[in-house]
Amino acid sequence: MTQHLTDIASLPEGAAEALIRRAIELADGASPRRLRGEVAHLFWEPSTRTRVSFELAALRLGLGSVQVDPSRSSSTKGETLEDTVRTLAAMAPAALVVRHADAGAPDRIVEWTAGTGVVVVNAGDGARAHPTQALLDAATLAHEGIDWPSARIVLLGDLRHSRVARSAFALYRRLGVVDLRMAGPRALMPESDDAAFDGVRRYDDLDAALADASVVGCLRIQRERIRELALPDDATYHAAWGLTAARAERLPADARVLHPGPINRGIEIDPAVADGPRSRVLRQVAMGVHLRTAVFEWLLGAETDTRSA
Ligand code: NCD
Repeated sequence: MTQHLTDIASLPEGAAEALIRRAIELADGASPRRLRGEVAHLFWEPSTRTRVSFELAALRLGLGSVQVDPSRSSSTKGETLEDTVRTLAAMAPAALVVRHADAGAPDRIVEWTAGTGVVVVNAGDGARAHPTQALLDAATLAHEGIDWPSARIVLLGDLRHSRVARSAFALYRRLGVVDLRMAGPRALMPESDDAAFDGVRRYDDLDAALADASVVGCLRIQRERIRELALPDDATYHAAWGLTAARAERLPADARVLHPGPINRGIEIDPAVADGPRSRVLRQVAMGVHLRTAVFEWLLGAETDTRSA
């Protein structure tokens, strides 16, 4: 059976911990393995850090790498997603890295490519899952020695449309975090029956949620996934729901601020906080390459490792 990475639930027991450990080793200077084969990156949604970090990870492992630009592919000529994917799989890359606006697209791609041996890695599907973002966030925190059972983790902003939040909470639960919180305007909070948020405490009062937090993750409003939404103007939103400089000042001295990017400065986070001492934003970006390197080693390493003893 080919192992894929479509969401946190697709990780076998112990795999998340092993990937995080390996990403940290790489961050601390370990050499990536040498692998053979090629990775095709298919991003149907815009991306800077995720797309480039997957590509750099492939290159650091000695893998070939090809970007498939959907706006220049045959999907613009009426080809279905299934045909595009089957066509690419027929060229036998080692892996397809996929980002798509439809929740569940990576699982359908796994079905369409069954039996080809092509590995599917989800780089974000709709509002459903973004497993490598969750893993790189956790690796960033683990690198600094966070203690999971005693961590108090708050995600704030647009929880409702966030694949980052869904995967993050799934992973934090697995790692043994007990105190999980979310805060945001009612219109951006998930439905109460959304199982992705089971065990996460909802706060109507952002300052109550932030009190004694050890990690604060800020989330952008996912406007591309919202058709109609009555939200206040940016300044009013920032004052009510943003991580303002004043709120950041009141956080415990060792609290860390995360943001998956892209940042909308002055809306969900104050620019001074994004660039300030608590911010781990660029460490997350750096860890993204290491974590994705670890993911390729794990998924592609068994057959293609060519290290000499
Ligand atoms: C996120 C995404 O695309 O889900 N960004 C990322 O991958 N670093 C979050 C976002 O777009 O707001």
